[in-house]
Amino acid sequence: MKGILLAGGSGTRLHPMTLASSKQLLPVYDKPMIYYPLSVLMLAGIRDILVISTPADLPQFRRLLGDGERLGVRFTYAEQPRPEGLAQAFHIGRDWLAGEACALALGDNLIFADHLSHLLREASAQPSGATVFAYQVRDPERYGVVSIDGAGRALDIVEKPAVPASNWAVIGLYFYDREVSELAARVTPSARGELEITDLNRMYMQSGRLRVQRLGRGCAWLDAGTPDSLLQAATFVQTIQSRQGMLVGCPEEVAFRMGWIDADRLRAHAHALGKTELGRVLTALADGEIA
Ligand code: TTP
Repeated sequence: MKGILLAGGSGTRLHPMTLASSKQLLPVYDKPMIYYPLSVLMLAGIRDILVISTPADLPQFRRLLGDGERLGVRFTYAEQPRPEGLAQAFHIGRDWLAGEACALALGDNLIFADHLSHLLREASAQPSGATVFAYQVRDPERYGVVSIDGAGRALDIVEKPAVPASNWAVIGLYFYDREVSELAARVTPSARGELEITDLNRMYMQSGRLRVQRLGRGCAWLDAGTPDSLLQAATFVQTIQSRQGMLVGCPEEVAFRMGWIDADRLRAHAHALGKTELGRVLTALADGEIA
């Protein structure tokens, strides 16, 4: 399975912070925002990743992430000239994807959950259909909203409904089978002029192939798209890291735990991070002082 990290958009709700910088490069506590969804894709076992961003911002992502060799993964880069919707990712990535199954992660979505690796592995192992994750929120009208039956099947899925049928919001992480390119090619622009991911998900739902994995109380999902949620995300990461001494959203750690880089390589990454706390924890991990 391949993965797409979508990190374009205009970030208008974060102006003026995003006037000269990509939203997904802003810091969330001690790391750039994009590290968090990147770590999630890597935890799902995905090593071939297409990073999509605006023509202005793409060079910064290249500078930050490089070709991926240092993490034992491969990054490819593609421009999205204008933010014309999430499903456009599959038009942009069509040749690169070459008919393979693919996960899509939004560059501003942060997910923290117990057993996350297990959930991700399960989603990526599905031989056919699509998997989305739903999270209960107070303000479902801001998101794609899914109604679910007792067996976890999707009954309906609607983008930003005026009157939501449930409070289950669909989060920015989607797993699709090999048919995704074909189906995405059939999505047409919505009333607001975007190629909606919800329309793609509805196609899977209508053929009975949309799995909805509910994320419960032990999970946190934040889209760091507003000043408040950006601060909340940073505080969340700070609290967990300083309390437990464990890292959240660190691609170097994930690469090491997945066996894609060895302890010497991890130590070198830690060394490059200098006197940071991140460097200290990664050194301890490489030395076997942290389980
Ligand atoms: P949004 O938060 O919907 O849009 P935005 O990032 O442009 O922000 P704002 O509403 O404040 O103007 O986007 C969700 C994520 O998807 C975010 O990481 C940006 C990304 N995105 C793209 O890369 N391309 C797109 O065409 C769209 C719509 C979003």
